[in-house]
Amino acid sequence: MFTEGGYTVTKDEFKADAILVNTCSVRDQAEQKALGKMGSMVQHRKKRPHVVYGFMGCMAQSRGQELFQNVPHLDVVVGTQKYHKVFEYVDGILQNRLERRMDDLKLTYKGDHICDIDEEKDSQNTIKDHVKETTDPTAFVSIMQGCNMKCSYCIVPDTRGRERGRPIQDIVEECESLVARGVKEVTLLGQIVNLYGRTEFPKVDGKSPFVQLLEAVHAIEGLERIRFTSPHPIGYRDDLVEAFTYLPKLCSHIHFPMQSGSDRILKLMRRPYKNEKFIEICKKMKAARPDMAITTDIIVGFPGETEEDFEETVKCVKELEFDNCFVFRYSQRRNTPAADMLDQLSEKVKEDRNQRLLAVVNEIAQRKNNALVGTVQEVLCTGPSKNNPNTLNSRTPQNKIVILEGNPDRLVGKVFKAKIHECTGFTLYGTPIIESLEEAE
Ligand code: 5AD
Ligand code: SF4
Repeated sequence: MFTEGGYTVTKDEFKADAILVNTCSVRDQAEQKALGKMGSMVQHRKKRPHVVYGFMGCMAQSRGQELFQNVPHLDVVVGTQKYHKVFEYVDGILQNRLERRMDDLKLTYKGDHICDIDEEKDSQNTIKDHVKETTDPTAFVSIMQGCNMKCSYCIVPDTRGRERGRPIQDIVEECESLVARGVKEVTLLGQIVNLYGRTEFPKVDGKSPFVQLLEAVHAIEGLERIRFTSPHPIGYRDDLVEAFTYLPKLCSHIHFPMQSGSDRILKLMRRPYKNEKFIEICKKMKAARPDMAITTDIIVGFPGETEEDFEETVKCVKELEFDNCFVFRYSQRRNTPAADMLDQLSEKVKEDRNQRLLAVVNEIAQRKNNALVGTVQEVLCTGPSKNNPNTLNSRTPQNKIVILEGNPDRLVGKVFKAKIHECTGFTLYGTPIIESLEEAE
């Protein structure tokens, strides 16, 4: 919207005329970071009084007006169903300030206070085209918003509202336009992707709307890889497992949040499945695709989690041998049932469990990565590596990072084979197999 309105994107906050901070509320740490960043940016106003500041996203949605008290220089707060209005608000303030500046240089350091956090029917259909001009071969596509679950620790239902899916045709058109701009891999995004469209669109031939969507996206010529995140054990049915047997563009990786390996804790979390069910789905996925990588999210230190509960989680991590786990220390969130549970654990216990689980996770992940040394993997080269711009980043279908050396003009945006010759920690190093590249060309 801003690009269409004549703006350009800058990576340098000191040059920006408008600064929007898109926020996450899932854990308190993320909110504190966003507040700290916004607070420190007031310095730009002193030199450039017209700069417009805004908060968007989940924290904007859940804190609303209250943010203006904490951050006096803030101008706009835009909630999760109102992204399409951001341009209008920001541009309005900016034009106004620039006009006033002509005859009045003493602008105040206080912000304008525009707050729009209402719900809006069908606003999910306005979330598209995350990237207008891209040179990236990979892109994210939002297929839905909101979540109808009520996990007792989670703030998302409060900040994102109820599940709302975009029509299949809209999503396909967005993917097609990305492919026309050189994108080779899309990741379909939603809070619970496998439940996509369940309230809006019917099943066809026993296939859920999500599987219908996967088939439609799969049919796009020029698109080489499809990923999605995140699925939930609820509604993870055989049609989705089977999709992996006949849709080869689906990558052999799922990020499948488990949260806990203890049934007692899952129940307190209001996660409506048992550990056995979670394991069963993982096994089916590995049967459908023997090279399937599974990664997960786990919360440690949920209120009332005993040492035995924690050990059950560790046991399950060892049994399933996840390729990677994101381990989170439980964080109390406002207006969630778990925040009021009596048996809150100390930070010390949470940290201790976090470290112990990470040690198990890392040992498994490194063992699995080491086993790849000497093998040939198919990779998509995504661009220069951040740490060392002389090398290139690429990803296997299992979403493992492989660092390559080679000519970016020849390799970036291509899918080819690479021989893995080294592994350090989570990173693999490979050499492109030029014949496979010639075949791809
Ligand atoms: N505390 C800690 N972790 C949380 N997550 C969600 N809510 C909380 C919370 N209150 C984690 C879950 C989820 C991931 C995105 O964030 O594991 O899958
Ligand atoms: Fe939050 Fe649970 Fe919904 Fe995931 S499924 S967004 S954890 S409420």
